[in-house]
Amino acid sequence: MQKRVLIISGSPRKNGNSQLLCERFQEGAKASGHHVDLIQIAERQIGFCRACDGCMRNNGICVLYDDMAEILEIFQKADVLVLATPVYFYGVTAQMKCFIDRTYPIWQNLGHKDVYYIVSAGLGTDIIERSLGDLDGFVEHLDHSVVKGKIYAPNIMEAGLVKECPQVLQQAYDMGKHV
Ligand SMILES: Cc1cc2nc3c(=O)[nH]c(=O)nc-3n(C[C@H](O)[C@H](O)[C@H](O)COP(=O)(O)O)c2cc1C
Repeated sequence: MQKRVLIISGSPRKNGNSQLLCERFQEGAKASGHHVDLIQIAERQIGFCRACDGCMRNNGICVLYDDMAEILEIFQKADVLVLATPVYFYGVTAQMKCFIDRTYPIWQNLGHKDVYYIVSAGLGTDIIERSLGDLDGFVEHLDHSVVKGKIYAPNIMEAGLVKECPQVLQQAYDMGKHV
């Protein structure tokens, strides 16, 4: 069955490590015939949630007219959600947190999604595991959604260094292929 896969890439870097892993995941998923939307938040116009509750009064329509409306439509239709972020100070990037907060208009009406994480970090796997709170908290709010896989790229500080980690690249491709 063809699935709809939404990959949210939270790094601000153009050729960042997590972005490269998103691309490998995308290649794998496409090789299996799935439809993939790969969205790098930093490349889009997406403002911060204003907590005005306008969406609650207005049938889930946000008061901000920016790129998030299109992304929420894709999100609602997706069977698979991939959340990709580097670790920034034991958490996700501001871009990823902005995306999460802006799902506020629709998070209660999303249905089941299979979720995957892609996380890069300058330090080790133990640091990555201490930094997943925002992602886990978000997924917990999504109806019956389950984290099906996690790809970690630890110990890489510079952009693009993940190219020297063939095992992680292969893991991303394979996970995409088997969503
Ligand atoms: C503002 C900032 C904060 C960071 N904080 C951490 C951190 O707390 N722990 C860590 O292991 N790496 C940290 N890093 C390093 C990044 O996680 C690392 O460079 C990662 O490979 C970036 O991923 P990307 O290439 O996908 O953007 C930080 C980098 C920046 C720019």
